Amino acid sequence: MTTKKLLILAGDGIGPEVMAQVQRVIDWMAKKRRITFDVSEGLVGGCSYDKYGTPLTDQTMQQAIDADAVLLGAVGGPKWDNLPFADKPERGLLRLRKDMKLFANLRPAFVFDALAEASSLKTDLVKGLDIMIVRELTGGVYFGEPRGIETLPNGERRGVNTQVYTTHEIVRIADVAFELAAKRGKKVHSVEKANVMESGVLWREEVQKLHDAKYPGIALEHMYADNCAMQLVRRPKQFDVIVTDNLFGDLLSDCAAMLTGSLGMLPSASLGAADAAGNRKALYEPVHGSAPDIAGKDLANPLATLLSFGMMLRYSFGMTAEADLLDTAVKNVLDGGLRTADIMQPGKAKVSTTVMGESIVRELDKLGG
Ligand code: IPM
Ligand code: MG
Repeated sequence: MTTKKLLILAGDGIGPEVMAQVQRVIDWMAKKRRITFDVSEGLVGGCSYDKYGTPLTDQTMQQAIDADAVLLGAVGGPKWDNLPFADKPERGLLRLRKDMKLFANLRPAFVFDALAEASSLKTDLVKGLDIMIVRELTGGVYFGEPRGIETLPNGERRGVNTQVYTTHEIVRIADVAFELAAKRGKKVHSVEKANVMESGVLWREEVQKLHDAKYPGIALEHMYADNCAMQLVRRPKQFDVIVTDNLFGDLLSDCAAMLTGSLGMLPSASLGAADAAGNRKALYEPVHGSAPDIAGKDLANPLATLLSFGMMLRYSFGMTAEADLLDTAVKNVLDGGLRTADIMQPGKAKVSTTVMGESIVRELDKLGG
């Protein structure tokens, strides 16, 4: 097997601390499973701006394109809040998504049994919850033209954004969703607003066509986005895979994430199209942000980043056994009662970022050393 090129962009805030725990797992894999990665590191976000005057240098962008996978920590913080739009830390992340053509954003929302009580919903509504949101990431109103703010002849101002999708954009994201569903609960909810938007009508027709031609074995339901938001908090376990556009996906994934009780637990993957050899450009990152208020204090929860690394093993490298091992280690450590501050519950043991990382490695030793 050729060595996989992994680019680590730890970023700002708690990014470096949580990423240090991934490094422990990487070291463990080298030692105990003889799996080595060709790891390089770079800067993204505010730290890159401080050093180079830009949230992402062309060189780092190229490194990301050349890597087999990118693992990102978090970007942003109050220090950079007042920068001009083009220099803001978030622009580094948006450029990575756009220039790597990462059209498929996978946002799983699952509830560990040990944490079911941390949800704001009743425990029995969320216990065992396992949803995969597939968000289109490079199209729709985020990038549609025309866009802008103009002043009309009468002096009034007018702001414009365009919701636009072409058939190939819809088909390729729906294809990702059906493929995922085939390996999970075999159910897809396709979400749009076909009752008011032509782009939604097209979305619905194309998803249905793809389903009929290629995935008749998968149950497909169409749902309006507002209803989906309601159903997510009413009866979330009806969902397996949800496929939706960029903006609805942004909203619904936050809603679904909160069902699980802790943003500190959720990983994500952003994938590009498969090349001739079946490989996809890919970026993995925790759903949480840079949490500047607790940065540098060894308080952050490293599990979302560790689980993002697990998604990388699974989706980019086909290392299913190792990904399962890591997922199980996380589950066991939680079952054992260890908690970082964000998921602390009465009667459990509060531990630091470092101790959580060390505990995961010890659990890996027990499971698969
Ligand atoms: C997300 C975020 C981003 C988005 C922001 C930071 C640009 O909300 O990843 O969900 O809207 O896509
Ligand atoms: Mg968002």
